[in-house]
Amino acid sequence: MKKIILLFFIPLLFIQCKQEIEQPKEKEYGFIADSAMVVSARIEASNIGVEIMEQGGNAFDAMVATSLALVVTYPFAGNIGGGGFMVYRLNDGTSGALDYREKAPLAATQDMYLDENGNVIEGKSILGVMAVGTPGTIAGLFEVHKKFGTLPFEKLIQPSIDLAEKGVVVTEKQAKRLAKYRVLFEEANKRIIFLDTTWNASDTIKYPALANTFKRIRDHGEKEFYTGKTADILVEYIQQLGGIITKEDLAKYEAKWRNPISFSYDGNKIISMSPPSSGGICIAQILKSIEPYEIQQYKHNSPKYIQLITEAERRAYADRAHYLGDPDFVNIPVDSLTSNSYLTTRMADFNWSKATASSSISHGSITGYESNETTHYSIIDKFGNAVSVTTTLNGAYGSKVYVEKGGFFLNNEMDDLSAKPGVPNMFGLIGAEANAIAPEKRMLSSMTPTIVEKNGKLKMVLGSPGGSTIITSVMQNILNVLEYDMTMQESVSKPRFHHQWLPDDIKFEPAFDTLVFAPLKKLGYKIDQSNSPVIGKVDAILVLPDGRLEGGADPRGDDKAAGF
Ligand code: DON
Repeated sequence: MKKIILLFFIPLLFIQCKQEIEQPKEKEYGFIADSAMVVSARIEASNIGVEIMEQGGNAFDAMVATSLALVVTYPFAGNIGGGGFMVYRLNDGTSGALDYREKAPLAATQDMYLDENGNVIEGKSILGVMAVGTPGTIAGLFEVHKKFGTLPFEKLIQPSIDLAEKGVVVTEKQAKRLAKYRVLFEEANKRIIFLDTTWNASDTIKYPALANTFKRIRDHGEKEFYTGKTADILVEYIQQLGGIITKEDLAKYEAKWRNPISFSYDGNKIISMSPPSSGGICIAQILKSIEPYEIQQYKHNSPKYIQLITEAERRAYADRAHYLGDPDFVNIPVDSLTSNSYLTTRMADFNWSKATASSSISHGSITGYESNETTHYSIIDKFGNAVSVTTTLNGAYGSKVYVEKGGFFLNNEMDDLSAKPGVPNMFGLIGAEANAIAPEKRMLSSMTPTIVEKNGKLKMVLGSPGGSTIITSVMQNILNVLEYDMTMQESVSKPRFHHQWLPDDIKFEPAFDTLVFAPLKKLGYKIDQSNSPVIGKVDAILVLPDGRLEGGADPRGDDKAAGF
């Protein structure tokens, strides 16, 4: 059965008995494929990635094709006007990472979002053209293709050209999102854009301008976006709106290969994104802080489980705010921050009988330290290569600036830099000097594309959108599978919680069992359920013991798995 997406139940023979007697239970599996799979935010994009692999392409070819397809099918976050990160693991076990994060424009200044009194001007780093960072996605895709691609680029982009011309059917969720952001589209562009029209579920949206941009990229390559006609269109529109990105910014942009963060957790190897994303370091800090505890003795999502994880998160996010930023600009003590001895010291004041107050926690001290709305897709190919990609415009539809002649949205990634020390960004994250604004600096990210291997073999590929909640969403899914033996689908569907040092509260999804609140409150934890309808949207693949692949497509979105 190919590309038919089903959730189905497989009664499992009862294999494991952790306690004396357990009733046989039915496990809920996601879509299962024999050898290759894509899980992404839209079925059309997953299908395009799979078709490329059916034509003999590898996971990297599929990565390029899926990414471009998401620009058409999921303009909410799929992009060529934003940036992202890829973590990969080849079938021979070698791994690596690509950083195609946006950069601050050359004309950016540290006080560009402050008024004359030094206060942050509300919304300036979020809505409109001043929020835009120099996009990295096209450079990233060409870099991937150059290093690992096996099919011609034209072949990878053509399905998205066809889709943009033919049009994409609007889902219920997409119709709601478009309606919700209409007013902001108008404000950011100072006029009506075509997506402002009322779109209802089942309508078909065609993207002729985007199709033309893709054709030019197909014909002229990467330089089309950074120095060609698309660059002209982009800069002309940005400057018309009063923005500061120039042709020089575009011409200077480069994607960079990075060493991923790799660490072991309970006999598993976790490979995740390195700075300028905080994802890998934070997830390493959290998992290594809780590793000494017998996690399985705490019931999943029980007060004790939440408490332990929250305390590890509190300390990790405090370090994030102080130490992390663009590694090309700041010296990050990665080894110290993720060392067992440092993390043992950090957790030393954790006390089961009382919540630690975030006000009493600051960043840890490192000896020898010298100075100073997103989408994820997971791919495994039939050769055993794995690719984990998170890409974003930052907020929903980014800055809402829509380059109509080019057919695409621009990011508002500048908000991920720290507009002013101590003032939270749109995700409530505090930044310091390490993430202060500077020309050409990459903004600190929380994106956490991750790969897990066990006994030298590929086990899981996962990641999530969700701003600051990405790290904790990915982390909970790793625990769901490794500690609680969930299927991939069960894992991504489970309700989640989130803590990030400041604000000093724990956020819970509405589906979370509210029975845990009273015991946590008693220990001094503050509960916030007001502003978190969903936490993360995880798209993941699990390699089953027999080698088949199980997709976990997050039911919080329109996300779907496809494969063969
Ligand atoms: O890089 C980051 O951490 C953010 N720009 C990600 C934004 C995001 O996940 C929005 N999605 N809900």
